[in-house]
Amino acid sequence: MTSSGSDNPAPATVAVVGAGGVGGFFAARAAARADVTVCVRTPFDRLVVHSPDGDLTPAVRITTEPASVGPVDWVLLATKAQQTAAARPWLDALVGPGTVVVVLQNGVRHTERVSPPVPADQVLPAVVYINAEPVRPGEIVHRNYGYAIVPAGDRADQLAAILPGELVRPRADFAVQAWTKLVVNAAVNSVTALTGQRIDVLRRDDVGALALGLMRECVAVARADGVPIDDDLPEFTLRRMRSQPAGAGTSMLYDRLAGRPLEHEALIGTVVRIGAEHGVPTPVCAALTALLAAISDAAPGGGAPGGGA
Ligand SMILES: NC(=O)c1ccc[n+]([C@@H]2O[C@H](COP(=O)([O-])OP(=O)(O)OC[C@H]3O[C@@H](n4cnc5c(N)ncnc54)[C@H](OP(=O)(O)O)[C@@H]3O)[C@@H](O)[C@H]2O)c1
Repeated sequence: MTSSGSDNPAPATVAVVGAGGVGGFFAARAAARADVTVCVRTPFDRLVVHSPDGDLTPAVRITTEPASVGPVDWVLLATKAQQTAAARPWLDALVGPGTVVVVLQNGVRHTERVSPPVPADQVLPAVVYINAEPVRPGEIVHRNYGYAIVPAGDRADQLAAILPGELVRPRADFAVQAWTKLVVNAAVNSVTALTGQRIDVLRRDDVGALALGLMRECVAVARADGVPIDDDLPEFTLRRMRSQPAGAGTSMLYDRLAGRPLEHEALIGTVVRIGAEHGVPTPVCAALTALLAAISDAAPGGGAPGGGA
């Protein structure tokens, strides 16, 4: 861990777990100010991020071995949400009493995903806006945006000191931000992944009506959970999605097309779960979650046993 109190303190130590679109981008940007280790499952020799303003080949250490790392100042957890449990050996090795774990994943209730083993007061949830994807292990194409919304406070300010400032956007209304993104993701990711079509599919009257119903359930659950989401978010979102250029996709669509397990639990299943806690009915979300779970479990690396009638 970094010592403090010196005139020339050592740079902060940062471990990025998962070097996909999000992790690769944040690792490359953090390397300008911090001592960065990239913790990966699929090995590669060099991290390269192709950005609109040029290519980055940051000086980072790359490891596949949790036994080769120890506690750091910051962990940036950037796996997909459904990969969090499998990343636990990294958290066990990287988290000490002074470590902060930034959960750079979509959804809400980020702390529950990592706690335990991480003490809840050492977790900083984050909602990421970026368009980036890995084209091969260690090689990321970053197309646009690139920032994390985090709860305002000291931790946010400390994170902004190890990342270029524009990458960290502290918000006092973090829960509203996270739920607002979840409402959009729940509808758009689910509908595109289930239909196997790009977001243009939302221009259909029938699919648009389904998405509206789904988003209204999400808003009702968010409000029951104490988060004041705008009532007109579903209508606003549908108009916005219908005005996007044709051909835009979503991460869950890409995962489905590639035969990978899906992030459905974090992006829509969580709405059903939290709805049940508050007695808010979510029949549309529940139906779509069941179908997405069936698709995900049948993917190579998914969870379902084979066979059956
Ligand atoms: N990409 C975007 O544009 C974007 C935008 C906004 C929000 N998000 C959200 O950000 C989060 C991260 O998404 P992403 O797009 O960066 O995902 P991704 O490109 O699929 O990257 C996830 C990375 O985690 C790695 N990983 C999985 N399990 C691991 C383990 N046990 N140990 C080490 N590495 C492991 C994967 O390695 P392998 O190569 O071995 O599979 C992969 O490189 C998600 O919640 C997503 O919804 C993404």
